Amino acid sequence: MEINRELLKTAPIGVFDSGVGGLTVVREIMRQIPNEKIVYFGDTARVPYGSKSQETVTRYSEQIVRFLRTFQVKTIVVACNTASAYALDTLEQDIDIPIIGVVKPGAKVAAEVTRNGRIGVIATEATIGSQIYTEYIKELNKDVTIYGKACPLFVPLVEEGLLQDPVTDEIARRYLSELIDIDIDTLILGCTHYPLIRSTLGKIMGDKVTLVNPAYETALELKGMLQSLGLLNDEAPGLGSNQYQFYVSDKAEKFVRFANSIIKYGILSAKAINIEEY
Ligand code: DGL
Repeated sequence: MEINRELLKTAPIGVFDSGVGGLTVVREIMRQIPNEKIVYFGDTARVPYGSKSQETVTRYSEQIVRFLRTFQVKTIVVACNTASAYALDTLEQDIDIPIIGVVKPGAKVAAEVTRNGRIGVIATEATIGSQIYTEYIKELNKDVTIYGKACPLFVPLVEEGLLQDPVTDEIARRYLSELIDIDIDTLILGCTHYPLIRSTLGKIMGDKVTLVNPAYETALELKGMLQSLGLLNDEAPGLGSNQYQFYVSDKAEKFVRFANSIIKYGILSAKAINIEEY
């Protein structure tokens, strides 16, 4: 049993997202638990998930979990808010390794930090429609009110690299105006891409609003979970150990360009695979 645990400690963590967005979660995992190996899958052929049905997102997520398990991963992180909202419950039902999503960790912090009980959530249409953040936050603190706002244009803006741009500013002002009028004091960035426009969002919301980044909170939760299970890797993997592996379902070049622009780790490479085979 002990031997197994020692072996498991050095096994990789599987992380997946509908595309590039989950790299914001990977970046936090790399920072917070630098000894860990990561196998990442970005479903670049089938992105976006945010406008798809629960059935479809669940089927995609199940295929990806089967793919990641071929690497003998010790745990899986669903780095996509939409997949966490739609598929996590189903995935949890038939898996014998720990699996965590990004929604619960973000919801937990928001419930803790709000002072006036007014929390805003911005996310994809699917995540907002699922009411998942509202559900989790209410379980922790039933005296708060949650205001959801779908912001579908943020994903393409971020993927076009318009992180600091007047166009993004203008669209963000329009999306956020109603949350400003409602006087929220906490805003959850409930989509993988939004931490990349955090400074724009922060500027518009003003100093009095706390921005909650589920990517950061998830990495923290992951660290705590691995620690409590005795599965944290104590030693850095040696050179040539392939510490970070990236897989996609379509065109690896675009993914690599984006990855290298947000993860300042060196040149990352990615391999395209046929996810429909899993
Ligand atoms: N990764 C998705 C999320 O966090 C955003 C992109 C998509 O719609 O697939 O909800």
